[in-house]
Amino acid sequence: MGVYERLILPRLVDAACGSASLARVRARVVPLARGRVLEVGYGSGLNLPFYDPGKVQRVLALEPADGLRAIALQRARSAAVPVEFVPASGESIPLADASVDTVVITFTMCTIPDVEQAAREMRRVLRRGGELLFAEHGTARSPGAQRWQRRIEPVWTPLAGGCRLTRDPPTILRAAGFEVEWSEGLLDGSLWSARTLGPLTYGYWGVAR
Ligand SMILES: C[S@@+](CC[C@H](N)C(=O)[O-])C[C@H]1O[C@@H](n2cnc3c(N)ncnc32)[C@H](O)[C@@H]1O
Repeated sequence: MGVYERLILPRLVDAACGSASLARVRARVVPLARGRVLEVGYGSGLNLPFYDPGKVQRVLALEPADGLRAIALQRARSAAVPVEFVPASGESIPLADASVDTVVITFTMCTIPDVEQAAREMRRVLRRGGELLFAEHGTARSPGAQRWQRRIEPVWTPLAGGCRLTRDPPTILRAAGFEVEWSEGLLDGSLWSARTLGPLTYGYWGVAR
């Protein structure tokens, strides 16, 4: 792993994911989490302030990147909910079947290399009746924006730690056997400020069972 991935990328991810517009989306879904929670692609721990300590027993923070886990460890020290770090990948979750009440995944389905396998793993570890809460970005609605996403993706993906612009989170979840209970999104470009990705993204968030 080079200097960019080890030292620079974790700070860039923390800064980009720490924007106010993403915080507004986090605030819509993360407080719905309850019980024993698995967060897949925990990153630098930006969802932590949004967990309700009255409802959440423990957060199992699955994060494969050492640099992001190091930032997250600092944040977890002053947290109101207990956080247990799980240094693993979403494609192979080291937890028993039906062992968590909630799965949380935010701005990570774009990055997991085999996201279809990770979605099957999330379904395996979620107990019957549990909820998967997601807040993601993905393919745009308008054909014009989709064309731009496809053009820019080959340059964007290596710079952004593997992030793809063109995935379709609700479709991936349905293919893994989830029923997407509700899903909302914003019009192309309105989720992000002009300083981030402009019209190249579309926000998707909601609840799946
Ligand atoms: C854009 S960051 C989002 C971080 C965090 N979820 C947030 O909302 O701020 C994408 C995350 O996906 C993680 N990731 C990449 N490959 C992964 C994999 N195979 N399994 C789980 N997480 C992965 C990265 O390490 C990073 O934490």
